[in-house]
Amino acid sequence: PPFYLGIDLGGTNVKSGVVDDDGRSLSSVSLETHASRGPEAGVATLAEAGREAVEASGLSWGEIAGVGLGTPGTMDIPAGMLLEPPNLPGWDHFPVRDRLAEVLRARTILQNDANAAAYGEYWAGAGRGVRSLVLFTMGTGIGGGIVEDGRIIEGRNSHGGECGHIIIQMENGRQCGCGGYGHLEAYASATALVKRAIEALEQSDESTALRRHLAAGTLTARSINEASLANDPLAARLMRETAHYLAVGAVCVMHTINPDLVLFGGGMSNAGPEFIDLIREGVKRMAFPLPASHTKIDYATLGGDAGYIGAAGCARMAFGADSGG
Ligand code: BGC
Ligand code: NA
Repeated sequence: PPFYLGIDLGGTNVKSGVVDDDGRSLSSVSLETHASRGPEAGVATLAEAGREAVEASGLSWGEIAGVGLGTPGTMDIPAGMLLEPPNLPGWDHFPVRDRLAEVLRARTILQNDANAAAYGEYWAGAGRGVRSLVLFTMGTGIGGGIVEDGRIIEGRNSHGGECGHIIIQMENGRQCGCGGYGHLEAYASATALVKRAIEALEQSDESTALRRHLAAGTLTARSINEASLANDPLAARLMRETAHYLAVGAVCVMHTINPDLVLFGGGMSNAGPEFIDLIREGVKRMAFPLPASHTKIDYATLGGDAGYIGAAGCARMAFGADSGG
């Protein structure tokens, strides 16, 4: 049976794994990205992660039918090129797909990281069996991916499903990693959450666990969520606001495509029932009631594996038995 190698380039880690024809992962590897070292060093890391994943799977390269690579946008998917990815400075206009294919000597396909993750959830995760889903991923940026009838919505120039750049604030919006203003990513990414926490700490001297985290260098999206669960008032407020921003983004996409399922993944998927309930309440307040009552809102289930599993699924669509290629 054919197997596929998936590789997911993230701001912090490169994750990779070999996946079988049914979306089951045979191996999973994580290496540090060092994105700031630039694209050529990056390709070396991607290749290393790929080789380690194949080795860990116990398969030989001859059994790998193709490689799927997910990277943050913006990109030209058919050309295999990064364009101006917001969170990969120095990687502009880099032909990442062909460079990786050269180094690995394997046919390779490029996909947006969040599109790939959405496909992964559709193929092998929380979205199995649904007709349409939207995934929001929370990390360095906010990724978005839309799958409808088994197809990823890529659009005219590969920028379909850039749901992190939905405008949620019209006036005096925060600046986004892409240079725009008021985008969801500038408010609700893990990076933005930490930034909002630091601003709040600077503006008051209320006693909060977050101040100790800031001093100790442990102020992260995760520690803010944990403080919120322990009833820290500032942390709870920040998490409530974050859920509200995400709900606004979700409602925008719901009103556009009326999906079966809206998923929240990436660093968010372990935030616990309280946080997803806040998002659900926000959606309920703002969305068309009838369709919203049929749209399920939940966490993604593949966690950090969604990206490489979905990228492998994209390789399967491109190079597998049913691909016609
Ligand atoms: C990019 C997306 C990417 C997301 C998560 C955003 O800033 O525009 O293409 O999916 O970050 O990496
Ligand atoms: Na996307």
